[in-house]
Amino acid sequence: MRPLIRTARCWLLRARVRAMATLPTAPPATAISFTTRPLYTPSSRSHRRLLARFFSVAPASAGARGLRAAASAVEVGGVKIAREVDVVKEDDLTNNVPDTIFSKIGLQLHRRDNHPLGILKNTIYNYFDKNFTGQFDKFDDLCPLVSVKQNFDDVLVPSDHVSRSYNDTYYVDGQTVLRCHTSAHQAELLRDGHTHFLVTGDVYRRDSIDSTHYPVFHQMEGFRVFSPDEWSGSGMDGTAYAAAELKKILEGLARHLFGAVDMRWVDTYFPFTNPSFELEIYFQDDWLEVLGCGVTEQEILKRNGRRDHVAWAFGLGLERLAMVLFDIPDIRLFWSNDKRFTSQFSQGKLGVKFKPFSKFPPCYKDMSFWINDAFTENNLCEVVRGIAGDLVEEVKLIDNFTNKKGMTSHCYRIAYRSMERSLTDEEINNLQLNVREAVKDKLKVELR
Ligand code: DAH
Repeated sequence: MRPLIRTARCWLLRARVRAMATLPTAPPATAISFTTRPLYTPSSRSHRRLLARFFSVAPASAGARGLRAAASAVEVGGVKIAREVDVVKEDDLTNNVPDTIFSKIGLQLHRRDNHPLGILKNTIYNYFDKNFTGQFDKFDDLCPLVSVKQNFDDVLVPSDHVSRSYNDTYYVDGQTVLRCHTSAHQAELLRDGHTHFLVTGDVYRRDSIDSTHYPVFHQMEGFRVFSPDEWSGSGMDGTAYAAAELKKILEGLARHLFGAVDMRWVDTYFPFTNPSFELEIYFQDDWLEVLGCGVTEQEILKRNGRRDHVAWAFGLGLERLAMVLFDIPDIRLFWSNDKRFTSQFSQGKLGVKFKPFSKFPPCYKDMSFWINDAFTENNLCEVVRGIAGDLVEEVKLIDNFTNKKGMTSHCYRIAYRSMERSLTDEEINNLQLNVREAVKDKLKVELR
């Protein structure tokens, strides 16, 4: 899992290349990975109300961006999400969601029973059903548009935390984001009276590009509340009791997924749990982080109607585990509709090893430019993905220097590769030409 909010160290490392980002400009008109989707009516009234408070700029005309994109809308969990009213607002400087991201909303790979992510989700459901018959409420259709409060404040993410930046999170406007973790739903579900729940959903993060990072991925959140009578006879305090229960249950889950493996617990930090842990397993000759978890901060329980209770919570990244369990070498494959990929998986069959249908060679193109103060690698990756879509496999900084005048140059190597076919030289040259133009225009850098 790519932990959202963990140690300061983890964020500081990445912060070196990003600083606090300026907002990216409007997304490019060509979104190669744009998927045709059904047309729906505009968003639900309650959701519209939430957005309307902050919606100050009239959407651009349909002609400016093409009819199909302008008319698009999807429905998630009964909420209608309209592209330009609710997600992509090209003229709104508080919006940084490109079309490539909108095109993923509503696809809900985790709800496809024959998809590796759906198979994994169902296998985890089976574990909880077997061990806690009927106790855990399951949610896998909650709307990914959430308020800043839900995503950050409700789970005690500090106001100056880097994960709140425009560089890391997709903002629809100043108050609304595409959730960057399923923890965003903890508080509302607690308030609704749930005490045992699993939340699975698509989550969104601005990030770099490589074989294990994709701006949309899937998480599952688990949450379990205990009342005082449950631990009073144990001789332990509530926190120790919840931590012991948590570890027992998650070790069982890891065995359910991976068989008899060695495991270890690593202390860590999350704003919403204390103590906090990561579970690692020894798998294929290496320690693999499986999930993050901990005992929920009292403040969260207190604010949401469960004073004097304790709770545990965990969060895991489905792609991360599915890549290992199914031998899937590239995270982009999860989004493939190619039969040679999809036909290899079937309901209930966890761990069937993926057989690559053929390996197409990557093609590398370098580009160098003088960066400016606002430059961040995440912004660069967003622009490249906007042009090349899923044909871009990796964007890697290969050279970096500052001249006597204090100007800093970066050289990035872009790897283009399709998972499904050979790319022609002409196609790649065109992509690279368009990428260069877009990088120059949108990031205002000086190409070298
Ligand atoms: N929300 C965390 C992330 O995205 C994952 C997580 C860690 C969830 C610990 C939890 C938890 O509920 O207790 O990185």
